[in-house]
Amino acid sequence: MELVNGVKIPEIGLGVYKMNPGREMNEAVKNAYQCGYRLFDTAQMYRNEDALGVALKENQIPREEIFLTSKVDNCNQGYDNTIASFHETLKKLQTEYLDAFLIHWPGQQAERTLSTWKALEHLYKEGYIRSIGVSNFEICQLELLLESCEIQPMLNQIEHTPFLHDEKLNTFCKEKHIQIEAWGPLLRGKMEDERIQKISTRYEKSPAQILLRWNIQQGIVPIPKTKNLSRLQENISVFDFQIEPEDMEKLNSMNENHRTSYDPLQFDF
Ligand SMILES: NC(=O)c1ccc[n+]([C@@H]2O[C@H](COP(=O)([O-])OP(=O)(O)OC[C@H]3O[C@@H](n4cnc5c(N)ncnc54)[C@H](OP(=O)(O)O)[C@@H]3O)[C@@H](O)[C@H]2O)c1
Repeated sequence: MELVNGVKIPEIGLGVYKMNPGREMNEAVKNAYQCGYRLFDTAQMYRNEDALGVALKENQIPREEIFLTSKVDNCNQGYDNTIASFHETLKKLQTEYLDAFLIHWPGQQAERTLSTWKALEHLYKEGYIRSIGVSNFEICQLELLLESCEIQPMLNQIEHTPFLHDEKLNTFCKEKHIQIEAWGPLLRGKMEDERIQKISTRYEKSPAQILLRWNIQQGIVPIPKTKNLSRLQENISVFDFQIEPEDMEKLNSMNENHRTSYDPLQFDF
C-alpha cells in the first residue's frame, strides 16, 4: 500500500503497547520479523521505545526493511518540545529516521495542535520522517489541520473495530487521502462476542483473523499486539481468504460507538 506521498506502508503491523522491555520485547520482535511483520508501532507514551530499539538491533533487523512508527506524547506537544522529544525518540530507537511520526492525541487546544503539527512538518522537510500523521483525530480536528497546514496529514491511527467505526470519518479520510490505521483491532483481547465467534466458525478462522481481515478488506492497516509466537503467526495469516459482503455487513452492524479509551472530542491534557 502507498501513502499520499508515495511512501509504502505494510498492510499489517505489530503494536508494542504494554510489551515489556527485555526478553519479552526481544522475542516478540524476532518472531514477528520472521513471521513477516514489517511495521512496528510504538509511542513515547508507551515508555518502551528504547526496548524496541534494542530488540531491533539485537535481532539485526535491517532498518530499510521496516516501517517504524512513534508518536509524540501529550506532555511533549508544542513546537520546541515536539522537536526535542523527537530527537530523544530517534536516540531511543537507535535510528536516524522514522517512517511515521504521529500526534498521539488531539487535545482541545487548537494553537497547541497547530504548533505541534508545524514541528512535524519541519522534521519531515528536514528528512527525519518519511510520513507524518495523527492519531485519534475526528473530522473537525483533521479539518483544523487541513485548513492551515503546509503538508497534509498522511495517516490517522484510530480505534477501529466492528464495535467502533464511524463511516463519516472513514469517508472523510479516504477523500483527503489520509490512510487509516486501526488500533485495538482485536478488541484488546476481548473477542468472546457470539456473533464474531459464529462468523469465525463458518470461515474456519479465529475471531482474531476475522477482526483483522475486516479492517484489511476496507484498506485499513491494523496493528494488533501480541507477545505470543503462535498468535503472531495467526494474526498475520489473513491474506488467504475473503469475508463475503453479507458477513462484512453483519460485522459493520455491530457498531455501538464503544470506545476503550478517551473520547477525542472531550479529552484534554
Ligand atoms: N494511537 C493510540 O491511541 C493507541 C491506543 C492503543 C493502542 N495503540 C496501538 O495499537 C496496538 C494494538 O492495540 P492494543 O494492544 O491496545 O490491543 P489489541 O491489539 O486489540 O489486543 C491486544 C490483546 O489481544 C491479545 N491477543 C493478540 N492476538 C491474539 C489472538 N490471536 N488471540 C487471542 N488474543 C490475542 C494480546 O495478548 P498477548 O500479547 O498475551 O497475546 C493482548 O492482550 C498497540 O500495541 C499500540 O501499538 C494505539
